Amino acid sequence: MSRITVRQMNFDFTEAIGRYWYGNSPFKTHFFNSITLLFPDGEQFMLRTVKRQLKEIDNPQLKQEASAFIGQEAQHAVQHEKFWNNLRQQGYKFDTYLRFLRFILFNVCENQLSIKFKLAMIAGVEHFTNAIADLVLREELFAEAEPKMKELFEWHSAEEIEHKTVAYDVFQNVTKNYIIRLLGIFIAYTFVLGFVSLGLVMMLYQDKKLLNIKVWQEMIQFFFTKEKFVFKVFLHSLEYFRTNFHPSQKDNLFLVKKVMHFS
Ligand SMILES: [Fe+2]
Ligand SMILES: [Fe+2]
Repeated sequence: MSRITVRQMNFDFTEAIGRYWYGNSPFKTHFFNSITLLFPDGEQFMLRTVKRQLKEIDNPQLKQEASAFIGQEAQHAVQHEKFWNNLRQQGYKFDTYLRFLRFILFNVCENQLSIKFKLAMIAGVEHFTNAIADLVLREELFAEAEPKMKELFEWHSAEEIEHKTVAYDVFQNVTKNYIIRLLGIFIAYTFVLGFVSLGLVMMLYQDKKLLNIKVWQEMIQFFFTKEKFVFKVFLHSLEYFRTNFHPSQKDNLFLVKKVMHFS
């Protein structure tokens, strides 16, 4: 039995979700809107790569976990993409952004990188998502968000923690090369931080909030002074540089139980 549960979710965002659904904060709302724009294609890339690798995995337990990883990421992609309709209804346009994202992700990363680098990149992305997932559940980061969005991000976070070892183990099943592992996380962070920032600027610009001083104050609070998001993600990221690092070393599986009512 796999310890990873694939849950079939059916989020419905048709109800009127506020324009600033995260605590009435334009900055935090658009930061997580930007992440929502990135997830579906990012997850498609990850699950397709792991799917192609399945037949090469020689460990039956890992193979089963990799299948569950694919099932969970497919659900994340579908459920997050549903919220795109709400963003479109609010007047945001992001087709050009998506074209650029897909070009980099599919034409460059998927088609040009070797399987080792793709898996190293995915393991790196998963280390980043695990940092966010840990904060979302440990610090109840979405306490002030609208309930539906809180549920979406908490369910996703729980599953990210649940499958946190899979991509890393699939990568290690191919190569244990430390340099490739570090290059992978470097590519991953450049990619994720680049596109999250691009999406954030695009959303704030379209919302005519890019030059709003209050938005920048919220950003400084969220990143550096109140939630200290950047410091916490940075500290978590540093763990990856240990030569004997493994995602299971971080004690956070208990956080999944906090939202087990999604099962
Ligand atoms: Fe995911
Ligand atoms: Fe994941």
